[in-house]
Amino acid sequence: MAMRRSLFQHILRIFPAEVAHNIRLGMLRFVGALPLGKWYLRRTLAPRTNSLEREVMGIHFQNPIGIAAGFDPNGDHLTELASTGFGFVEIGSVTPRPQPGTPRPRLSRIRKRNSLLNNSGAPNLGLEYVMRNVRRRNKFTRNLVIGCNIGKLTTTPPKNIVKEYLRVFRNMYQYVDFFVVNLSCNTAAKQFVPRTREEILSLIEPMFEFRRGQLDYRPILVKISPDMTQEELDIVVSILIETPLDGIEAVSGSTALANEERGAVCGAMLTERALEVVRYVAQRSDYNYPIIGSGGMMTPEDIERMFEAGASLVALSSGVRENGLKLLRRTTKRIASKNLTTRR
Ligand SMILES: Cc1cc2nc3c(=O)[nH]c(=O)nc-3n(C[C@H](O)[C@H](O)[C@H](O)COP(=O)(O)O)c2cc1C
Repeated sequence: MAMRRSLFQHILRIFPAEVAHNIRLGMLRFVGALPLGKWYLRRTLAPRTNSLEREVMGIHFQNPIGIAAGFDPNGDHLTELASTGFGFVEIGSVTPRPQPGTPRPRLSRIRKRNSLLNNSGAPNLGLEYVMRNVRRRNKFTRNLVIGCNIGKLTTTPPKNIVKEYLRVFRNMYQYVDFFVVNLSCNTAAKQFVPRTREEILSLIEPMFEFRRGQLDYRPILVKISPDMTQEELDIVVSILIETPLDGIEAVSGSTALANEERGAVCGAMLTERALEVVRYVAQRSDYNYPIIGSGGMMTPEDIERMFEAGASLVALSSGVRENGLKLLRRTTKRIASKNLTTRR
């Protein structure tokens, strides 16, 4: 069932998708900066129940619903997103140097299907900038769980990819709570999708090695594409079971659904495939590992189904962009009333 949109949300949909997103973030920033603004955000948007707190990957989450990568890539809005009550925010994809992304317009709506076509090319202001933002935690963000999604610069030649991922990982290690290694930096260039066991291990093994020498433990997940074949999903599951990989985030946008168009489809067109991939990965790994479910989570019902499929946490993107921030409170109300528990 489609979610009822507020008047503000209807107005936002008059604007192109990226402009609408920036207006929302600007409004959040404005309201958050007013006296009592953060109190107002908490009062109008944050979940009203404490019963959804949980431990996943050894991290305490106020609730299991967070924000996916690409929503606040530079960590500029962590204070306001913490006030709206999200259980976590995944910043990034962070690249070692700033990346402008594809020229605008690069995010368009597929209105009839309640979906988005994303061809943004992971724009972000680079490691140094993002690090400054996450280093400066304040009383509002002190307890916010922050994940760092690591991506690839479109210009990086294959021989430097591992070095660059590791550079972001090492530098961000002490400032964030978990890492997501993006295995599908494919939207603009369709060029980087490591799918063999060797390719995936070559990226994450140096991170395991670095982590062994640290006092604090930071979980590492890989984020996978919905376009992977069953054999490729089996490879990822076997890596999950056989190595110190902590979990999987499934899924990113789909280039297969985009057909001839350049970019990745996100939103309602992705819902069923995202649920299918999460269900498959959860079953194959005996519900023993954390999964962050992402992709087409547009309504409280979608999110509930994602938990039932085996996700421990859910990351929102198009659902908030197109249906608004109320999605969080409506969902937590629904799952709290059903006392829905996740399997991990
Ligand atoms: C504009 C936009 C930018 C995105 N940027 C990133 C990114 O930098 N890294 C990443 O891993 N995923 C990125 N994503 C993918 C989302 O995190 C999410 O996995 C995907 O959109 C599917 O979820 P959805 O259907 O709820 O949007 C982006 C998505 C959108 C719409």
